Amino acid sequence: MNILIQGGGRGIGLALARQALAAGARQLVVTARNPRNSAAHAEFGGDARVTFLPLDITDDVAIRNAADEIKVLVPRLDRVICTSGILREGDINPEKRIADIDAEALVTLYRVNALGPVLLARELWPLLKGDHALQFSAISARVGSISDNRLGGWYSYRASKAALNQLMRTLSIELARANPNASVATLHPGTVDTDLSKPFQGNVPADKLFTADDSAAQLWRVLDGLTPADTGTLFAYDGSVIPY
Ligand SMILES: NC(=O)c1ccc[n+]([C@@H]2O[C@H](COP(=O)([O-])OP(=O)(O)OC[C@H]3O[C@@H](n4cnc5c(N)ncnc54)[C@H](OP(=O)(O)O)[C@@H]3O)[C@@H](O)[C@H]2O)c1
Repeated sequence: MNILIQGGGRGIGLALARQALAAGARQLVVTARNPRNSAAHAEFGGDARVTFLPLDITDDVAIRNAADEIKVLVPRLDRVICTSGILREGDINPEKRIADIDAEALVTLYRVNALGPVLLARELWPLLKGDHALQFSAISARVGSISDNRLGGWYSYRASKAALNQLMRTLSIELARANPNASVATLHPGTVDTDLSKPFQGNVPADKLFTADDSAAQLWRVLDGLTPADTGTLFAYDGSVIPY
């Protein structure tokens, strides 16, 4: 399999890269903003199957450049997993109330959390279309489900993940016409012990906090079981469908 893990340098993405290698990936492309300094590079930088590419998903030119390099490496992609996501960064923190909303912060979260996978799909289109089996996925979050929102708060993160779900659903419809054996999915990884969740783990019972490897193993099984009939769906780590 030729596999791309966008945002594979650390966290859940790194654990998914481990899954890809354990599953016998022929070519694995791992992107990160600074791949040479990433935990993934420290772990399998010497593996000939792995190519590291720099990619800031908010940079359109960088997306095009990375896609061009991938087109030289592989004739088609069999599995793509987009993982980039932020909940807080710099001065940006998840909102507790309406007074906390800031337009710039909202746009930043949309750029990182929602837009990346479809911009990448646009540039990678020649490697996605055809008739080969393909799973194209992005890590979303249960809190992006509109029907499941009973607690409120986290306006920007929730909205950006809901936007991601809609963009991927729309992609699923177009990709089905370009490749009948493709499936597109958004994935909820559970609550996972990574940099992203660290400040918010206080109220999470120990048995509800997954390691990145546990989560990635479950997500990998969900991707293995995907069929074109499932395309355009938000799945939890255990394979259950989360309504939008
Ligand atoms: N942890 C959880 O409990 C949890 C729950 C639900 C959903 N998620 C989702 O799971 C995904 C992975 O998060 P994680 O928990 O593994 O967190 P993490 O360890 O903080 O990793 C965040 C990832 O996002 C990437 N990223 C951030 N900004 C980026 C940008 N501008 N361009 C490219 N990549 C960027 C990072 O890449 P660099 O290495 O280049 O910084 C890194 O790979 C996210 O989409 C998150 O929303 C996590």
